[in-house]
Amino acid sequence: MTELKMEKQLHGLNVLVTGADGFISSHLCKYLAENGVKVTGLIKRNSTGIFKNIDQIKNKIKIKWGDAQDLSLLTEITKNVDIIFHLAAQSHVGYSIYNPYETVINDVCSTLNILESARKNDVKRIVHAGSSEIYGKPIYVPIDEDHPINPRSPYAAAKASAENLLQSYYYTYDLPIVMSRFFNVYGPKQGLDQAIPKFILQAINNKDITIYGDGSQTRDYTYVSDAVNAYISLGIKPKIIGKVINFGSGKELTIKDLAKQILKLTKSKSKLKFDNKLRSGETPRLLCNPNLAKNLLKWKTTMPLEKGLVNTIEYYQERKELISNLPFML
Ligand SMILES: NC(=O)c1ccc[n+]([C@@H]2O[C@H](COP(=O)([O-])OP(=O)(O)OC[C@H]3O[C@@H](n4cnc5c(N)ncnc54)[C@H](O)[C@@H]3O)[C@@H](O)[C@H]2O)c1
Repeated sequence: MTELKMEKQLHGLNVLVTGADGFISSHLCKYLAENGVKVTGLIKRNSTGIFKNIDQIKNKIKIKWGDAQDLSLLTEITKNVDIIFHLAAQSHVGYSIYNPYETVINDVCSTLNILESARKNDVKRIVHAGSSEIYGKPIYVPIDEDHPINPRSPYAAAKASAENLLQSYYYTYDLPIVMSRFFNVYGPKQGLDQAIPKFILQAINNKDITIYGDGSQTRDYTYVSDAVNAYISLGIKPKIIGKVINFGSGKELTIKDLAKQILKLTKSKSKLKFDNKLRSGETPRLLCNPNLAKNLLKWKTTMPLEKGLVNTIEYYQERKELISNLPFML
């Protein structure tokens, strides 16, 4: 679908984005708000009172402070909503390993509440932010949607459980759900506990880049603007209700090569430092088969990795001091 047609279809819609100050949500909210959508953003209160990622657009969207675990709040704010983009989650694999209860209760209960409130208020579409982590250690690549689900971390198990709930509401209550499975997304504003922002901050501060394992694990990267385009399509395209769709570039990159590319682009003097064991729960290989997204949505990644990395590096160059947060976040 061309940009113009998408903008037309979006104009005037009422949309709820959960976890609106998160990395991907903040880019999604910006796009929606700039294209005539009435956006309500659900944001979990933090004690700093700082609008983490949505400072620039906080006056263009309606902000609701609260927790997606609060069913009565969700029931109130999903009235007259056309689309829910449910992105709120404890989104970090490593954190989930040390905090399984928090992760599972939060991610599963939030999703159940979204479904229940959407059912009560006849929301027209619910889009879920799923993850390729649910595939676990692949038995074949590239990974298509028929690949068995084999979660290796509490985060992945919670995402798989959330999908099961979505599917059950689709079959039981005919709820109009759509399920995405994103491979790794990157770009400005990503949490510092993820590989790309961490490597960039280490590189631009000339600190050693710390890599889990021997760096041979692979990931498939999608720039955040391509992820936003995917979400928009998931929100408005016809004939995708009840479907589950992978999103990725179809190209894999080892973590070691990713780190080397960041070193080159930042002209850094940093060295690579390996700790020689993969974190438990970590998936050794992720490579997406994005054919279904291509066929159903005409979606594919458009941002070349190098350009996406340069954009992200520019963002963190202006925030070099964030390096001081890394020890607390990893
Ligand atoms: N970034 C990726 O590579 C990737 C890949 C696949 C799937 N996903 C999924 O996409 C979504 C967005 O990812 P992200 O990288 O932007 O993560 P993020 O951590 O930056 O954003 C998640 C947001 O949800 C909020 N949140 C968590 N629990 C909440 C609750 N109960 N109520 C309200 N808000 C809550 C957090 O405060 C945070 O702002 C997540 O669901 C994540 O699991 C991300």
